[in-house]
Amino acid sequence: QREYHIVVLGSVGGVGKSCLTAQFVQNVWIESYDPTIEDSYRKLMEVDGRQVVLEILDTAGTEQFTAMRELYMKSGQGFLLVFSITSMSSLHELAELRDQIIRIKDDPRVPLVLVGNKSDLEEDRAVSRARAFAVSQGWGSPYYETSARRRANVDEVFKDLCRQIIRR
Ligand code: GTP
Ligand code: MG
Repeated sequence: QREYHIVVLGSVGGVGKSCLTAQFVQNVWIESYDPTIEDSYRKLMEVDGRQVVLEILDTAGTEQFTAMRELYMKSGQGFLLVFSITSMSSLHELAELRDQIIRIKDDPRVPLVLVGNKSDLEEDRAVSRARAFAVSQGWGSPYYETSARRRANVDEVFKDLCRQIIRR
């Protein structure tokens, strides 16, 4: 059985990394905000007819724990880069994270998905879909908008990332 290491990343806190992970792994919605240091989960998933085990690392959104970053970037095989559609800076700051991943993996085509979370907060949207899509195109990566609250597109982002890893 194949096992893949996935890292959920974002450059600011509160964009919804832990809520997305909790919805994917446990099918639960977490309303409260408890900043993450680092948590890991395992989940069995079927992708294109084959069973895979995902080892998912949910990371801290703040800059406080950068020493750990290099370590999990080295061991990660696929990365979810998460921002909130309600915050333009949460998108902008992902570019630096992506650069860091590519440098550490020494691979410009590393499996990666750009995720605009909180799509249920349309009235607070600060990043247009077109803007985020353009960023993802520049990276050569797919873009998904998710809502951890409504469990929208949650499985899809993990599945897309798995497919990218499998096709390497
Ligand atoms: P750090 O661990 O500090 O990096 O934050 P995080 O990115 O893990 O954020 P977390 O998942 O803890 O969510 C932060 C807050 O945003 C929580 O209060 C959530 O309830 C809320 N939230 C997360 N996802 C969504 C979403 O899709 N829609 C809405 N409306 N709120 C969300
Ligand atoms: Mg968190």
